[in-house]
Amino acid sequence: MLRSIDSYMSESLIITQHGKEEKYKELLPQIKSLLDGEKDMVANMANTVAALKESFGFFWVGFYTVKEKGLVLSPFQGPIACTRISFGKGVCGTAWKEKQTLIVPDVDKFPGHIACSSSSRSEIVVPLMHDNTVIGVLDIDSDQLNAFDETDRIYLEEIVQYI
Ligand code: SME
Repeated sequence: MLRSIDSYMSESLIITQHGKEEKYKELLPQIKSLLDGEKDMVANMANTVAALKESFGFFWVGFYTVKEKGLVLSPFQGPIACTRISFGKGVCGTAWKEKQTLIVPDVDKFPGHIACSSSSRSEIVVPLMHDNTVIGVLDIDSDQLNAFDETDRIYLEEIVQYI
């Protein structure tokens, strides 16, 4: 008997590790298989942010996607957030402009940082690329200073490639 298409998705994440790198190593193949074969970007972004939120408990994790007039809020988990961000503005718009991941250890020290929540203290923004063009960004905020480092950059850059 044929399985229905929704039976191919695993039902829950399994995270047994405690260290950051170990957690990413455990999570990566699970996100990959969750997204494998699914072409819908919104569905893939939604499951990715849910998996990251569940695994790490980040304060805010979400995507902004590039539309005609700038970045527009896309699937996220956490408190309500700014809806639109212009090219070159804030951490997200700067990562879009520079086509590179930005790690901000203290958001108060980033000129032009857009404060969607006063609880955000540090942030990482990873561009989502297609054919050398930025089509969106993954934005993660922490309520702690200095929460993100090279480990996050390496694994998050890998994860956005699955979208
Ligand atoms: N802080 C971001 C705006 C998005 S929120 O953090 C969810 C920025 O400066 O671009």
